[in-house]
Amino acid sequence: MFRLKLYKTVLIHKIMHKHILCLAIESTAHTFGASVVEFDSGKFSIRSNVRDMYKTEKGGLIPSQLAEHHVECFNRIISDALEKSHKSLKDIQVIAFSQGPGMGHALRIGAVAARSLAIQNNIPLIGVNHCVAHLEIASIYGAKDPVLLYASGANTQVIAYDGGKYRVFGETLDMGVGNFIDAFGRELGLGFPAGPKIDEMARRAKERKEAYIALPYSVKGMDVSFSGMFTKLRTMIKSGEYNTPEKKEQLCMSVEETVFAMLLEVSERAMAHCEKKELVLGGGVACNSRLQEMARIMCRQRDATCIIPENQYLVDNAAMIGVLGVKMFLANRRTTVQQSKIRPYERTDDIVVDWK
Ligand code: ATP
Ligand code: FE2
Repeated sequence: MFRLKLYKTVLIHKIMHKHILCLAIESTAHTFGASVVEFDSGKFSIRSNVRDMYKTEKGGLIPSQLAEHHVECFNRIISDALEKSHKSLKDIQVIAFSQGPGMGHALRIGAVAARSLAIQNNIPLIGVNHCVAHLEIASIYGAKDPVLLYASGANTQVIAYDGGKYRVFGETLDMGVGNFIDAFGRELGLGFPAGPKIDEMARRAKERKEAYIALPYSVKGMDVSFSGMFTKLRTMIKSGEYNTPEKKEQLCMSVEETVFAMLLEVSERAMAHCEKKELVLGGGVACNSRLQEMARIMCRQRDATCIIPENQYLVDNAAMIGVLGVKMFLANRRTTVQQSKIRPYERTDDIVVDWK
């Protein structure tokens, strides 16, 4: 027992005095990102965090065009990240990349870039799980053992650490909340991504003190579902009753109130079940001002801490890949080129967490 304690103390002491520079690459979906993350004496600093997002006027996504976007921008984004951090590849000790989950067309570009740079420059490689990275970035804000509400385009999950792994306590049974919001926005004639516009429109309706329009509220145990609400909304919009700017704003507000109440109900239940006192928000939808407000209120009522990273670390970004990459590197994890195949369907609870 004493030996184990001593070993742990020596290990922590060794890690605390390490200096590591990590080049990180993110490309699970619309965003291609690169970042230089520095770890020095137990502290993380994000030296640069650069990104470029594939956007469309009408919504929808063509995988081949998305891949083309990433191919066209990857060199510029990686060079930019290095330049902004005043570092060159010679200074980098590890290259981290998002290995999964995500869209094959997108993941492949980031993986090829990471692999090529690692081979050419003889730098170790680490493949990182994107969802776990959304959670781990919160440690730079002091999070110790949080519940994560991960609300992005494709993903909607409530995740927490339990028994050596990150477990998914609840998730969407159909579409991701961001995809739902974007699809609803498309019905209203808003471009992609619709989330930020809906945020703004809902705020205007709230300022006018518009009435809430009742919508299907769908929480099943620890899971949520959006398809029923989407069908209902499509019928409502098609009826022509919600064509004026004011009516559209009122609908946006009602959608936000319903959907965010659902997400926070399952988050709160996970916090109570796991007896955790921290909630972290992650994913692009977590940029929403009303979701942030509701999360803060819920945490205050539970006497818990609400941690909301800056927007640039909520949306898909490479800095979070770098933070997790460094943690895994310190735990002696490495990904050989043979092991670096993309994992589009990797699940959060597939990952063995040995860096804590
Ligand atoms: P992932 O691969 O993790 O699923 P993603 O590709 O969907 O991520 P993110 O950047 O995490 O990318 O999230 C994008 C989503 O966030 C879009 O659906 C967008 O509409 C939504 N979004 C962004 N800002 C807001 C906002 N203020 N309110 C609501 N939704 C928002
Ligand atoms: Fe994400």
